[in-house]
Amino acid sequence: MIKVSPSMLSADFSRLGDEVLRVVRAGADCIHLDVMDGLFVPSITIGPPVIASIRRCTDIPFDVHLMIENPIEYIDDFVKAGADYLTVHCESKSDIDDTIDRIHTLGKRAGIALNPETPVRKIVQYLDTVELVLVMTVHPGFGGQLFIEENLEKIRYLKGYAEKYGLEYEISVDGGINRGTGIKCVESGATVLVSGNYLFQTADLGREIEIWHLL
Ligand code: DX5
Ligand code: ZN
Repeated sequence: MIKVSPSMLSADFSRLGDEVLRVVRAGADCIHLDVMDGLFVPSITIGPPVIASIRRCTDIPFDVHLMIENPIEYIDDFVKAGADYLTVHCESKSDIDDTIDRIHTLGKRAGIALNPETPVRKIVQYLDTVELVLVMTVHPGFGGQLFIEENLEKIRYLKGYAEKYGLEYEISVDGGINRGTGIKCVESGATVLVSGNYLFQTADLGREIEIWHLL
């Protein structure tokens, strides 16, 4: 079954706890939390204190997407706040092997993300150590952008690579995901769909997530 990870970036932040409960009740598999530091991307969003406070609302896995320049410095804080998956960008300044090691030492799942312009060869060396690969299908920094179609090729490659070498990482896609682009990603090999703008605008979130589970 395809996993659905709603991005809380599109939630109403004045009622964040209620919004988290709403997506949990609608059948979400994880909650996608976008952390931006104003350096790796132009925007600034949330940090560990906000994650720690919504951790008290639910046991659902938190899929924390770190769009920050130096993720290794903050891994411990995000784990303490309640992150389950911690995804770091290969374009960040931290040593990626050390960062993945730290995440595993703390007993959590590691993800590696790549931007639309980054070739897949930049992450191949990490594929046998991560539990998740996050293919950015928009330029990171903002919700509500248009899906960049060229990334489907990366998804196909990552699926083929996992099959060839017997690896079991999730392939997650993030940016411009709606039912139509979601189908294309799943057909290419994606196993997790992250979506903010589209999911938060659907009239019946439970029904939409049920449909996505079966894509
Ligand atoms: C963008 C974030 C995404 C964003 C996706 O930098 O990583 O998680 O919230 O939002 P939509 O689905 O609106 O493109
Ligand atoms: Zn994200």
